[in-house]
Amino acid sequence: MYTSENGKLWIATGSERIYLEPSMANRHGLIAGATGTGKTVTLKVIAESFSEMGVPVFIADIKGDVSGMCLPGSENKHIRRSIDTMGIENFDYTSFPVRFFDVYGKLGHPVRTTISDMGPELLSRLLGLTDVQNGVLRIVFRIADDKGLMLLDLKDLRSMLLHVADNAAEYKIKYGNVTAQSIGAIQRALLTLEDEGGDIFFGEPALDIADWFDWGDDGRGVMNILECAELFQHPLLYSTFLLWMLTELYELLPEAGDLDKPKIAFFFDEAHLLFNDAPKALLEKVEQVVRLIRSKGVSVWFITQNPMDIPESVLAQIGNRVQHALRAYTPNEQKAIRAAAKSFRVNESFNTETVLQELATGEALVSVLDEKGIPGIVQRAGILPPKSSMNAVEPAVIGTVVANSPLKDKYHEAVDRESAYEILTAAAAEAEKQAEKEAKEKEEAKKKEEEEKQKEKEKKKAASKKKTSAFEKAAANTMSTIGREVGKQLIRGIFGNLKK
Ligand SMILES: Nc1ncnc2c1ncn2[C@@H]1O[C@H](COP(=O)(O)OP(=O)(O)OP(=O)(O)O)[C@@H](O)[C@H]1O
Ligand SMILES: [Mg+2]
Repeated sequence: MYTSENGKLWIATGSERIYLEPSMANRHGLIAGATGTGKTVTLKVIAESFSEMGVPVFIADIKGDVSGMCLPGSENKHIRRSIDTMGIENFDYTSFPVRFFDVYGKLGHPVRTTISDMGPELLSRLLGLTDVQNGVLRIVFRIADDKGLMLLDLKDLRSMLLHVADNAAEYKIKYGNVTAQSIGAIQRALLTLEDEGGDIFFGEPALDIADWFDWGDDGRGVMNILECAELFQHPLLYSTFLLWMLTELYELLPEAGDLDKPKIAFFFDEAHLLFNDAPKALLEKVEQVVRLIRSKGVSVWFITQNPMDIPESVLAQIGNRVQHALRAYTPNEQKAIRAAAKSFRVNESFNTETVLQELATGEALVSVLDEKGIPGIVQRAGILPPKSSMNAVEPAVIGTVVANSPLKDKYHEAVDRESAYEILTAAAAEAEKQAEKEAKEKEEAKKKEEEEKQKEKEKKKAASKKKTSAFEKAAANTMSTIGREVGKQLIRGIFGNLKK
């Protein structure tokens, strides 16, 4: 095992061996480089080492080539050369304990979340709402939360929007103004999301991130691989979803202080998508989560072609860097090289900018934090070869892994339990029934004799009171079946997602 040497993760070899200090892994990492330079293989090698150390891993697999981790690798001349030149003893080609997830449910356990869980901030981003519409959505969530109404899927949100629009005057004093125009705009954005297949995310059983924390029989951390090829066709969906996962992790984990190794390592491929076109407020939140999640023992790795794609404020929080070759064809690329070179502590024995353009595939400039958190001088090094297969596996192989997974039954079937839609529909039906009843009574009352008129009026007054409370009553009756959120106010965390 790479890790058996000294309790550290051996990831590369230059003039000497380079070890990642596990107690500093929560100071996050960056793997960057032009296309085809070896980023994904580096990700695999680091993930394999974490797994061998007993750290579970989550990886977003964009091209399907991470899926090979469920099969042992096989020798080729590059790997042979690495093994020989780096002096790797007892190199064993081996598979890793892998769980596959897929939002679309084709190449892994279906991944779902609820609208309530995702929260108004991320949903606004997903829907591309304006600030005003975002404000309205927040009000709608507040009302639903205060009433303990779960918004599980899109039809729950739709009926909640309608309910708030219908009762805007009543809610205005407590929550603020909600215009029909904003509600209309949100409804239209929801339609677009549905057309793009985005509604597939929302429903139950929702992914319980606690399931990522598992180990193989031999104690190696489970590799949770999210197959993203299809999801990636909708970049906004992809980035919002991964952002949600990160915030769920943050909400789930307790403060951990300084640990000797991370609790989980999270690998975020095509990381620039997280920051593309993100409004400032959201960027600040991402930055905040990346900073705060450190003390919960989460190691986040960003993988991207150009490190300049990642905002300065996030880059500043990254302690461990593996920079593969960069190209210098355009002025922008030249700027990126200068920026990447500047992020390293100079090594007097070479020119960082020049070497950055010369690096071969699988070779990189590496700088990691030492046990005191001090960044090491940049080293030119070859990344170790991966032990598992570097190729994408056939869907049938993934199918077998999924069929044998202990999570199979938990997530397989979608369920549609009682939530806002059902409760509000029931309330509306109740109100209608009530109105019909009243109309009937009215008619009967008319027929009655003159002297009974006064009495009837009083009865009507009482009945109309009943009507306004029909919603509350129906909600109270049915809410007892809702489950964990029953009757209590829902509390939102840092990102507006639900606190657990
Ligand atoms: N450390 C390594 N040891 C052995 N071979 C490697 C190593 N790194 C890269 N390679 C070889 O280079 C190929 C390309 O690497 P990889 O897929 O990691 O590039 P990438 O930077 O992720 O590319 P893209 O931007 O297209 O995703 C691999 O399929 C493998 O054959
Ligand atoms: Mg790649």
